[in-house]
Amino acid sequence: MQRVSTSNLQPGQVIGRDILNADGDVLLRWGIVLTEKYIKRLIDLDIYSVYIENPYIKDIIIPQPINERIRIKAVKILKENFLRIRANKILDIREFSAIANLVVDEVCANRNLLIHLTDIRAYDDYTFIHSVNVSILAVFAGIGLGYGETKLKELALGGLLHDVGKMFVPKDILNKPAKLTEAEMEIMKGHSLLGFELLRKNPEVSLLVAHMAFQHHERPNGSGYPRGLQGDEIHEYANIIAIADVYDALISDRPYRRGILPHEAYEILLELTRTQLDLTILKVFFKYVAIFPVGSLVQINTGEIGVVIEVTQQFPLKPKIRIILNASGHAADKVYEMNLKDRPTQFIIKVFREEERIVFPPV
Ligand SMILES: [Fe+2]
Repeated sequence: MQRVSTSNLQPGQVIGRDILNADGDVLLRWGIVLTEKYIKRLIDLDIYSVYIENPYIKDIIIPQPINERIRIKAVKILKENFLRIRANKILDIREFSAIANLVVDEVCANRNLLIHLTDIRAYDDYTFIHSVNVSILAVFAGIGLGYGETKLKELALGGLLHDVGKMFVPKDILNKPAKLTEAEMEIMKGHSLLGFELLRKNPEVSLLVAHMAFQHHERPNGSGYPRGLQGDEIHEYANIIAIADVYDALISDRPYRRGILPHEAYEILLELTRTQLDLTILKVFFKYVAIFPVGSLVQINTGEIGVVIEVTQQFPLKPKIRIILNASGHAADKVYEMNLKDRPTQFIIKVFREEERIVFPPV
């Protein structure tokens, strides 16, 4: 499976994963062969990338830590509740707690798996899907940090609600299909405080959850907002949400730019740990998030090119690769599998972007 921009899709390619909207409706089903009409429909729906099948790894199933149906159900409930908050400022915390518990149960049951896929989403649904993703990612980090169930549920709830203040940001700013102006950015930044105020007024919401909304844009070096808190002034939960938030934003398609690849996001986040993000949490986080997801097209330092077919938590940078092209860029005499973890001197030197159009010989 491979993520491809809708503008680069070709008729005849096969959809590799159901495409759903935040209401849980299937827009295009796994296995459908694309036609010009389908491609146009995807573009009309503002969907900028989809997963397509790679014929070389048809036999590989990517184990998912979160059941897709459960995730979409969570998104749907969250969306309904967020819209209710926008309409009449009423927060029913029980609905959010129920989703948080669902996320924790699901992630705990699959804690040995890696997170693999970026979401395919239409822009208007961004905040809802993003909130559920942040919650899932944060719970994984929490597991890595040794949190028990109570803390994980608190973290999951904070992940779901960290951006709830965005419901009070005017819709034309929230869903603007371009970069925000400085004035609009200032309004957008107000979501931390607005979210905090909504949450802390509700006696059923723990103050820590309210503080995750308040503090998730604070940064250890004091460069964050709204208060410019530093170091230990920021709660660990908020540092976790910050990493999950930045990671999910980087790999997601936005109206003004395409999402970047996980290994690129890894490099950026690692760089940010020098100033703005917590290194311990980041290391734990990337135990659970695939830096080279299954389906990535990669080149090894031998010059050979292939597709990642398996990654493990123990060796995140050393996946198993099915080699398709030899060092001269021609079809290998025989397709074979190379497990980098068993080869100390071999490693990935490049991940190909879709526009590089690696052409594999027909299967
Ligand atoms: Fe935010």
